[in-house]
Amino acid sequence: MLFGAGAAAVALLIPWLPDPASKQAERINFVFWFVTTICIAIFALVAAVIVYSILHFRARPDDDEDGPPVHGHTGLEIVWTAVPAALVTAISIVSAVVLAQNERLPSAESASAAQAAQASTVNGLCKPRRGDPLKPLVVCVTGQQFAWLFQYPAFGNASSATLRLPIHTTVQLQLQSKDVIHSFWVPEFGQKQDAVPGLLTKLVITPTKLGTFPVICTELCGLGHALMRSQSTVMTSDKFAAWTKSQRRGGSAGGGGAPSGKALFVSNGCDGCHTFKPAGAKGTVGPDLDKLPALAQRAGQPLAQFIRESIVKPDAYVEPGYPKGVMPSTFASLPAAQLDALVKYLQQGSK
Ligand code: CUA
Repeated sequence: MLFGAGAAAVALLIPWLPDPASKQAERINFVFWFVTTICIAIFALVAAVIVYSILHFRARPDDDEDGPPVHGHTGLEIVWTAVPAALVTAISIVSAVVLAQNERLPSAESASAAQAAQASTVNGLCKPRRGDPLKPLVVCVTGQQFAWLFQYPAFGNASSATLRLPIHTTVQLQLQSKDVIHSFWVPEFGQKQDAVPGLLTKLVITPTKLGTFPVICTELCGLGHALMRSQSTVMTSDKFAAWTKSQRRGGSAGGGGAPSGKALFVSNGCDGCHTFKPAGAKGTVGPDLDKLPALAQRAGQPLAQFIRESIVKPDAYVEPGYPKGVMPSTFASLPAAQLDALVKYLQQGSK
């Protein structure tokens, strides 16, 4: 009893796992607790038998006799073979069921998915599905040293450095990498998936909680690996619809209501690496953007042209003192109107 209580306290009082924020994570937590409960029971039993044996069967100081001969106990042997076999079988069945459930898309759609051979959109791999764009919602995830880019093929390839998801909607992430192997992980969503160059890997998530959760790269992918972080925002379906709408407007040239330069600067994660006073950004990985005019001069280009080139083709000119290939080139696929807004914002803010 005592050992069971002790082990249970260690399991319960320390928050080993984050609070699940997706259906998949809830299932994973169920498996975790299923196995943990079995382990606690076995630990308590074994510890109790050991302590009892030590106390009850120990040799007295003056006792030099041999112990009584023991020849095994068929009944006991059958029990300690059968019970663990049953437990291990139970664990494997529960795990297999959860694994299958966690990879499954809503059933009606997986049938149509087979024939949804639409024109590929993002880097020739990630494909949207026909029919209702929210069943499931397909998000193309691109990993590149050292940033994540999320694109929504069903919504005019709206792109964002933050993963925006509507709550209670099953989403299929289609992951790819532009350079080396990265790994996509949101602890609260439970599952992890590698982004491998030349491959399209998939991950299913059904968010169940509103809020913002960290997106973390969990594959050592280079110097900036520790900085390869982003955020995932789970919003109400109304807010998500409003966002996709604003992205569509932003995507068509000249449309009003495009996201502001500052919003783009933050949502694309520029503030993570650059210092830029108008946005309150204090990153030090890349050059200080308050000094853009001086940088442009060194590069020998007019300011606006320099800013645009630095976003779209970051390695065309690299400020001395900063390594090449750190700034992701994924921003080249920003919709034109957003790119314009961002260039304008940086141009005006750095003057
Ligand atoms: Cu990307 Cu570590």
